[in-house]
Amino acid sequence: MAEAFNELVLPDAKAARYAAVAEEIAAVLEGEPNLTARMATVGSMLAASFEHYFWTGFYLVDPGKPDELVVGPYQGALGCLRIAFGRGVCGTAAATRTTQVVDDVGAFPGHIACDSRSASEIVVPVIDRAGALIGVFDVDSEAPAAFDDLDAEWLERILKQVFG
Ligand code: SME
Repeated sequence: MAEAFNELVLPDAKAARYAAVAEEIAAVLEGEPNLTARMATVGSMLAASFEHYFWTGFYLVDPGKPDELVVGPYQGALGCLRIAFGRGVCGTAAATRTTQVVDDVGAFPGHIACDSRSASEIVVPVIDRAGALIGVFDVDSEAPAAFDDLDAEWLERILKQVFG
């Protein structure tokens, strides 16, 4: 199913879907300042919009251990609770503050396999208005190479819109 989605949905259709969900997220979150509510809503609405999203959620900088991420709101099967900065795809995105698009998680050095069904992954840093790292947004897919520059561009835009 995930493969079929990627083969059948043209880039224009994917961009249109991201644009539509970005607007819906902005409308739903209008006037809601609570960070947990904002994260839960973003994860839920994005996960419901795309069939290639298998695990969708946030890993947050732990205020008590600032070089460790702790799991936040997510959709999907049980995720790992903690990830050190620099470890795996999430830790790399957090340490470098750059989006990671991984076509084959098995080939990524230090990849943390929370669920063996995950085949590819995108992780986008989440940065607040003051420029501080809040955490990362992580999406896994059961299909290999499910994410591309379009996913990266739109997720960066949506996360900036909601948390920046
Ligand atoms: N695969 C991730 C760990 C988090 S889970 O996929 C939910 C990583 O290597 O960062």
